[in-house]
Amino acid sequence: MNFELTDEQKMIQDMTRDFAQNEVLPLAAELDETGRFPEELVKKMAELGLMGMAVPEEYGGPGLDYISYAIAMEEISRACAGTAVIMSVNNSLVCEPLLKFGNEEQKKKYLTPLAQGEKLGCFGLTEPGAGSDAASQKTTAVRDGDYYIVNGTKNFITNAPEADYCILFTMTDKEKRHKGITAFILDMKSEGVTVGKPEKKLGIKASHSASIILEDVKIPVENRLGEEGMGFKVAMATLDAGRIGIAAQAVGIARACLEDALAYAKERQQFGQPIANFQAIQWMLADMATEIDAARLLTWRAAYLKDKGIRHSKESSMAKLFAAEVAMRSAVKCIQIHGGYGYIKEYPAERHFRDAKITEIYEGTSEIQRLVIANALLRD
Ligand code: CAA
Repeated sequence: MNFELTDEQKMIQDMTRDFAQNEVLPLAAELDETGRFPEELVKKMAELGLMGMAVPEEYGGPGLDYISYAIAMEEISRACAGTAVIMSVNNSLVCEPLLKFGNEEQKKKYLTPLAQGEKLGCFGLTEPGAGSDAASQKTTAVRDGDYYIVNGTKNFITNAPEADYCILFTMTDKEKRHKGITAFILDMKSEGVTVGKPEKKLGIKASHSASIILEDVKIPVENRLGEEGMGFKVAMATLDAGRIGIAAQAVGIARACLEDALAYAKERQQFGQPIANFQAIQWMLADMATEIDAARLLTWRAAYLKDKGIRHSKESSMAKLFAAEVAMRSAVKCIQIHGGYGYIKEYPAERHFRDAKITEIYEGTSEIQRLVIANALLRD
């Protein structure tokens, strides 16, 4: 076993840390305050090869491994979790299923511009009535010659307002439940597609989430991703990769909590000395640091298994579950160490707290992660 990063992974860490600290972090408070989509940062991330990191060079990506992706996600999330999720959706929820399930033509036409960051993608699985129960899709796709006619509503779709393409899940045979789900590549400019207003959210405000309303949308047969009825497997396998990205995001938020709390504790004077001298504070810092390391190791293990081509559903869920809960616990401690200053907007502690919460919800709630882990334990 080797805990050392390769030279390439170290280079990605240095490059993304530098970018995150110098260009993303200075904008984080403003993005949180205004909810502005950080177009300039997304453009820069594209230039740095961060929008389709694991996509091979022949399809426009840098062909890196998933550990590098986890490293980059941690660094960007440490600076701005909202900006990071724009990147994670494009990488693991859009490029990943195109790479894994797309045919040659689809890869050339859609994956290449997405991996280069010329186009942006979103992932249309969630519906008003299909959140944790992802198999109960109500959006229908009915074959009509060379097209499918699609009707339905997706909601809470990250990147929907800015996306060019959507990996869309539909029901083609509702009698078959999950075996009747089919995935498509939807051009968001198609007639009959309406994107709702971005939701007003608690945190990760730089990323926009909105509903997508589909009214008699004609999707060409050649845009079907995989065979009819394969959609649920496409969604689940995609989420196995996506959850590594969210686990890394949670590690990044937790690290922001630790680094900000540490700096504050060294500087804040009470009872004639820095509060970092008090054991009550030291224990909180020690617990945060220990849990963050454990969360990162779980995340990198899941990424390692993915890179080796070994099924990693359980390990991705373990990483996301643990890292998300570590992010929340770290955010609570960060506020506590800041005292009253942690509760006001002048300091980033309250932003970390609001940003951390989503990691326990999207790409499968913590309860769903426990279900995936338990199912794997009972199956093996
Ligand atoms: N890979 C491949 N196949 C898989 C799989 C995986 N990881 N997980 C399950 N499957 C297959 C099973 O083998 C089974 O196949 P067969 O019928 O051929 O045996 C089939 O899928 C059904 O499996 P289950 O019986 O386990 O399915 P279920 O209906 O009980 O649901 C679930 C399982 C884990 C609860 C799933 O519905 C789930 O993950 N729910 C959460 C949904 C979610 O994460 N949504 C996130 C939305 S995207 C998002 O949040 C993005 C964002 O904003 C950033």
